[in-house]
Order: sequence, then C-alpha cells, then structure tokens
Amino acid sequence: MKVGILGSGDVAKSLAAGFIKHGHQVMLGTRDAGKLKDFVAQHKGAQVGSFADAARFGEIAVLAVKGTVALDALSAAGAANLAGKPVIDATNPIAEAPPTNGVLKFFTDLDQSLMERLQSAMPDVHFVKAFNSVGNAAMINPQFKGGKPTMFICGNNDKAKAAVRGVCEQFGWDVADMGKADAARAIEPLCMLWCISGFLHNDWFHAFKLLRKE
Ligand SMILES: NC(=O)c1ccc[n+]([C@@H]2O[C@H](COP(=O)([O-])OP(=O)(O)OC[C@H]3O[C@@H](n4cnc5c(N)ncnc54)[C@H](OP(=O)(O)O)[C@@H]3O)[C@@H](O)[C@H]2O)c1
Repeated sequence: MKVGILGSGDVAKSLAAGFIKHGHQVMLGTRDAGKLKDFVAQHKGAQVGSFADAARFGEIAVLAVKGTVALDALSAAGAANLAGKPVIDATNPIAEAPPTNGVLKFFTDLDQSLMERLQSAMPDVHFVKAFNSVGNAAMINPQFKGGKPTMFICGNNDKAKAAVRGVCEQFGWDVADMGKADAARAIEPLCMLWCISGFLHNDWFHAFKLLRKE
C-alpha cells in the first residue's frame, strides 16, 4: 500500500517505520522536512513532502499531529486529497494545561470527541480511530507476556475500518471494533488512563487487552 503520514513526531515516525518494515511505501508530510532528515537517512525508501503531498500520495493516510492543530494539519493536507480514503486518526485531544496527579486534561468533553469534530469538518474523509491509546514504542508488533494487546477502533465507514483492521493485525494487534465515530468519545480517554502509570510510575510500556468469554 501507499501510505501518507501527516506528521513528523514520534507517532508518525514509529508508524512509518512499521509500514516500511511490512513492505509498504511511505511518505511523511510536514511543514519542515529538515525534522525528518535523520529518519530518512535511517529508513530506506521513506519519502518526505508537504502535508498535501503526503495526503495525495497515500491510498490510506495517518493523522499523527498534535490534537490542538489536527484541523489545521488536515486543512493543509486538503480535504480533496483525502476524500474517500481511510485516515487512521491517532490523535488525542490533549489540552495545553498540565496533567494533575498524572491525569491529562482534554479540550473536548464526553459528548463530542476530537474525531467527531474532524469527521464533521471533512465528511468525505473516512476517519478511523486507532493507535491513540498506546505509546509509540509499543505500536509495532509489541511483545507482552500476556499475549496480543487490543486495539480499539471506531469509524463510520466499514470499508475503511476493514483496511485499518488489516493494518492493526499486521502490526500485531487484536482488533476490537467499537462501532461508529461517536465511540471515539470512549476510545480517546483511554489515552488518559494509559498515561497515568507513565506519569506516576515512569512505566511507559504497556497496552490494554480486552478479555472475551471465548
Ligand atoms: N507520543 C505518543 O507516544 C502518542 C501515542 C498515541 C497517540 N499520540 C497522539 O498522536 C499525535 C502525535 O503525537 P506525537 O507525540 O508524535 O507528536 P506531537 O508533538 O503531538 O505533534 C507533532 C506534529 O504536530 C504538527 N504540528 C504542530 N503544530 C502544528 C500546526 N500549527 N499546524 C500543523 N501541524 C502542526 C507537527 O507538524 P510539523 O511536522 O509540520 O512540525 C508535527 O508533525 C498526538 O495527537 C498525540 O496525542 C501520541
């Protein structure tokens, strides 16, 4: 697959490395290609362009930018360049205010998630929430004593979700499909829960697992 990754941070780089490892073609989009010079030197085949270049390049895209500027990055990418494509939304609506007792502050509330805002701003784009509630170090084929961790996903378009399910499974995850975009109201706050043991106990390598009857 050709994958366009919007972002130059740790999530963008970890997912880009994962896609390359699994034989996909990757272009990362950024306002400042200089930030990715070392990454490109270390990852054969990685390409870099603007947000719009990456959006045009991808058959599937990843949104991996700061939550507060997600809409700015998407606008720069261009709705037309992403229309009809699955967009893995890894963002979290983390506010600028610092965490209290290890609990992050969000700029959204429980009646509307960030992904729903993005979905209503760009109705022709098929957003699928994924990879938001695990640290970037554990995104690609993580090894845990308890077996495969669970990736909670949601989104309005079933075909897009099937594509993202395939990516998650290739990256070593069990997938739990939580339904339509409004389920992001529950999936985004998992990031708050995930981060607490990091802030309180400096434990940044763990993941959630959904235990089923069979
Ligand atoms: N860090 C993790 O382990 C982790 C895990 C799960 C989910 N997440 C979520 O994933 C997202 C990315 O996290 P991250 O830690 O990799 O990076 P980050 O530091 O949150 O974001 C960096 C990205 O934000 C973009 N950005 C900043 N200001 C911008 C603006 N005004 N307009 C357009 N783009 C702008 C940057 O673009 P340029 O390249 O142009 O500078 C860069 O690509 C976040 O929403 C985060 O909550 C993070």
